[in-house]
Amino acid sequence: MIFHLLSRLSVKVPSVVYRAALIMKPQVVFVLGGPGAGKGTQCARIVENYSYTHLSAGDLLRAERSREGSEFGQLIDSYIKDGKIVPVEITINLLRKAMEETMEMDEKKFRFLIDGFPRNEDNLQGWTTVMEGKANVKFVLFFDCTSEVCIDRCLERGKSSGRTDDNRASLEKRIQTYLQSTRPIISLYEKQGKVRTVDASRGVDEVFDHVKAILDKEG
Ligand code: ADP
Ligand code: C5P
Ligand code: MG
Repeated sequence: MIFHLLSRLSVKVPSVVYRAALIMKPQVVFVLGGPGAGKGTQCARIVENYSYTHLSAGDLLRAERSREGSEFGQLIDSYIKDGKIVPVEITINLLRKAMEETMEMDEKKFRFLIDGFPRNEDNLQGWTTVMEGKANVKFVLFFDCTSEVCIDRCLERGKSSGRTDDNRASLEKRIQTYLQSTRPIISLYEKQGKVRTVDASRGVDEVFDHVKAILDKEG
């Protein structure tokens, strides 16, 4: 009623989405899968088609690694080369800051794809400590494929990525970390009925068709 009256008086009425965003908690989809499964590729496609902001934990860590004056540059560098998971205190602060900055710039941007997180127990605990109650985890989008597919894709990406970890030695460690530390986190969410699994071994378009079906259903 009040909005109706305001619009008749030519007072600019905020859109429904805008008003919803003012009271909305950040809505989060965790995006998980092995190294090279196609998380970043699919997140880019999602951003083109849905109102999500993509935050890659790996990208944020790489940016922090090369930020002048960062006290964590060397630590991050050695963890990434070794395929190990950086202590969550660093990662969660980068994620929280990126979420806050996104929402401060545009209140309508409260939907986030958090790619490559939580990757181990420590990540999950850090999320719970800092974000529980402040953000709503809707579900986990899980890109599932074999280690062989992961390795092949990363080695191919390594020809041009310039990444220090797209090589065979780092990849062996990354796959181990994925199997030993990340899979149990996915299983944990599976028990809560929160995992949406996509066969990531198919072509980019076929994978995205499945992703679209999931997002259209989940809203
Ligand atoms: P992640 O973020 O999971 O590590 P990326 O999205 O960076 O994976 O993809 C890894 C590499 O594999 C990239 O070179 C990308 O172009 C390629 N790629 C991604 N998805 C597919 C796919 N469905 N089929 C073949 N290659 C893919
Ligand atoms: O997801 P991405 O492949 O970009 O991650 C690259 C590396 O960044 C990981 O192998 C790991 O060393 C580090 N990382 C991390 N914690 C995360 C995500 C990435 O330590 N949650
Ligand atoms: Mg990636």
